[in-house]
Amino acid sequence: MQYLPTDPVRLSDRGDSIIIIDQRLLPNDLVTREIKSAEDMYEAIKTLAVRGAPCIGVFAGYCVYVRSLYTSDDKLDDELVGFCDYLNSSRPTAVNLSWALGQMKDVLSQSKGQPADKRRELLNGKARQIHQSDIDTCQKIAEYGLTLIKEGDGVITHCNAGALATSRLGTGLGALLLAAQRGIKLRPYVDETRPLLQGARLTAFELEQAGLEPTLICDNMAAFVMSKGLVNAVFIGADRIAANGDTANKIGSLSLAINAEHFGVPFYVFAPTSTVDKSCKSGDNIEIEMREGDEIKSLYFEKPTAPEGVKCLNPAFDVVDNSLITAIITEEGIFTPPYNFG
Ligand code: MRU
Repeated sequence: MQYLPTDPVRLSDRGDSIIIIDQRLLPNDLVTREIKSAEDMYEAIKTLAVRGAPCIGVFAGYCVYVRSLYTSDDKLDDELVGFCDYLNSSRPTAVNLSWALGQMKDVLSQSKGQPADKRRELLNGKARQIHQSDIDTCQKIAEYGLTLIKEGDGVITHCNAGALATSRLGTGLGALLLAAQRGIKLRPYVDETRPLLQGARLTAFELEQAGLEPTLICDNMAAFVMSKGLVNAVFIGADRIAANGDTANKIGSLSLAINAEHFGVPFYVFAPTSTVDKSCKSGDNIEIEMREGDEIKSLYFEKPTAPEGVKCLNPAFDVVDNSLITAIITEEGIFTPPYNFG
């Protein structure tokens, strides 16, 4: 079942541009945009029109292919490698971006000496493969996730790890969406996820579209919900998982994990293996993206909610220590501590 009218990113029917759902406009407007310039690609990631770690990876694959169509034969290597570095600098934390760009660069280096059109065809094939593999991966992750809960359970989630952040079923939301398809009733609680409101704008939207009946809460209400025994599990996605299991995810994931530990609620992380960064020993090595204070003070408000000049700290992600994670679920199975992905 696909309840969104289109994948969040896909190649256009003509094959020379990318069609994205502009996630900044949801839930009020479901608008698609066509993208082909390098600057628009960079801006789409930077401003979160395209967002969610696996989705950014799928997008990056198509970006390299589409840019190859506008690059002359003799410049395929230099210009596309330069483009990969440029796109990679748009956001630092989700490893899927550099992972997908690395896959595309490998195709370029392995196809050196072949005719330019053949090389473009190989880039197209790799981009489509990254996309298809994400669809298959999400399905497997969702099946594993369903084994961790039962009918009637309350599940709390943070940010958006559904179809908009991936391909089709999602990771952290996969089990919930699969449960909906199978008629299994659950009680999803959705953190609104300040400051960019991915929970309120995107997760609540997706779960409603899928026919689930989510309950939206402000981030600071999670402890209350847990203290009342309303949730049986936390399900979240990930942007980068270190070899020791430390997990970077949307800011607020750490508070949720600490609350979960306090109230004895299991805390599960769902992600494709492309989100596991074997070269990263622990969370200390994960770069955390810092964003503008206006996102806190004014972006989603009619009028500013704070004095104009007040200083803001706006880290986009935090790192959940592996000791707080009950299990990490990838397409390869359910992993429990001690984690060793190295
Ligand atoms: O800043 P965002 O919206 O790109 O952050 C997204 C998240 O933190 C998601 O939880 C994560 O990418 C997992 S998506 C399957």
